[in-house]
Amino acid sequence: MKKNNPFTLTFGKQPGEYISRYENTETIISTFEADNPISQAYLIEGVRGSGKTVLMTTIANLLADKPEWVIVDLNSTQDLVADFAYRLNHACNKFPEIKNANINFSIGGIGIGLSGGAPMQDNVSIIEEILLSLSKKGRKVLITIDEAMPSDNMRYFASQFQIFIRKDYPLYLLMNGLYENIYAIQNDPALTFLLRTPKINMEPLSIPQITKQYRRIFDIDMEFAKEMAVITKGYAFAFQALGMLYYEYSDSLSWEAILSKLDDLLDDFVYKKIWEGLSEKDREIVRVLGTEKMNSSDICKKLGINNTSFPRYRDRLLKKGILSIVSRGIVELALPRFAEVIELYP
Ligand SMILES: Nc1ncnc2c1ncn2[C@@H]1O[C@H](COP(=O)(O)OP(=O)(O)OP(=O)(O)O)[C@@H](O)[C@H]1O
Ligand SMILES: [Mg+2]
Repeated sequence: MKKNNPFTLTFGKQPGEYISRYENTETIISTFEADNPISQAYLIEGVRGSGKTVLMTTIANLLADKPEWVIVDLNSTQDLVADFAYRLNHACNKFPEIKNANINFSIGGIGIGLSGGAPMQDNVSIIEEILLSLSKKGRKVLITIDEAMPSDNMRYFASQFQIFIRKDYPLYLLMNGLYENIYAIQNDPALTFLLRTPKINMEPLSIPQITKQYRRIFDIDMEFAKEMAVITKGYAFAFQALGMLYYEYSDSLSWEAILSKLDDLLDDFVYKKIWEGLSEKDREIVRVLGTEKMNSSDICKKLGINNTSFPRYRDRLLKKGILSIVSRGIVELALPRFAEVIELYP
C-alpha cells in the first residue's frame, strides 16, 4: 500500500475526501434549528454504501459544535429506551448544572444514585427529568440511530419518543436505514407519526464535484477525470473505491485491471449483500436490464410478464436504490458496474 492514500473503504466513518451533501445537510439542520420545527424527526433512507451513516454523522457533528446541542448516538441492537437513559445521563455529565439533577440510575438492576438518597427510578422518568432540566437551560437533544430495524424494541422506543414530543421536550431524532426497514418502521400501525416524518432519499453524489475532486488529487485532465466520475455513477462507496485504486495502481496497472479490481471491491463490500437482499423477481429484472436503458414494456416483453404487475416491482426497485430513472419511462441500474459484477453470480 502506498502511503497517505486519501480515500477510504471504511463504512460509517467520515472520509478524508468528502463530497458535500450541502442541500440535505442544510434541510435537516435548518428544520431542527427552527423555532417552531415542522418536524422533530428525520429519516434517511438509501441503498447500502450510499452514504447514510456519513450524512448522519456529518449533521450530528455540525450540531455537536453548537453549545446548545447534546448528541446521543443509540445502538439499534440495544434496548433503545434504556440505552437512551444511560447515554443521555452520561452526555450530561459534562454540564455541571444538569448533573446536579437528582437522578438515580439503574444499570442491570443496580441503582446508581447520582446525588444519593432518592429511590430508584425507571428509565422513562430518568429521561424526562434530564430533558426537563436541559429544556430549562435552553438545550436540545439529538438522538441518532444508525441502521434502524423494525422490532419490538424500535416500536417501544418510537412510541415513547412520540410521547416525549407531545410533552414538548426539546428532543430530535435522526435515523437511517435501508428502504425496506424504514418502510416497515414507518408503516407500523402503532407508529403513524413516522408516516408524516420527512424523509431523505440518498441521491447520487454530484458528478461535477467528483470530477473536480479526482482532478485535483490525481492531476489528470478534465476528460479523464469526468470519465472516472461517470463510472462511479455518483455512488459514494464507488467514489472511494475507484479513488483508492487509482491512487494505488495508476502507475503499475492498466485501466482495465483497475476496473476489474473495482468490481472485486464492489462485490466484496456491498453487491454480494445487496444481491442477497433481492427477491427472485427483483433479480430477474436486474439481469434483464444489464447495462442497458429500457422502458417498462421492453422489460416486460423480455421477462414474459404483463404490464400490470410490473410497476409494483419497478417502484420498489427504484425506492431501494437499485434502479434509477434515465428519462420518462426509461430506467437503468443505479449502481455502477452492478451488471458486470452480478453477471458472474450463479
Ligand atoms: N458524501 C460522501 N463523500 C464521499 N464519500 C462518501 C460520502 N458518503 C459516504 N462516502 C463513502 O461511502 C462509503 C459508504 O458510506 P456509509 O458508510 O455512510 O454508507 P451507508 O449508506 O451507511 O451504508 P450501509 O447501509 O452499509 O450502512 C464509505 O466508504 C464512505 O467513506
Ligand atoms: Mg451505514
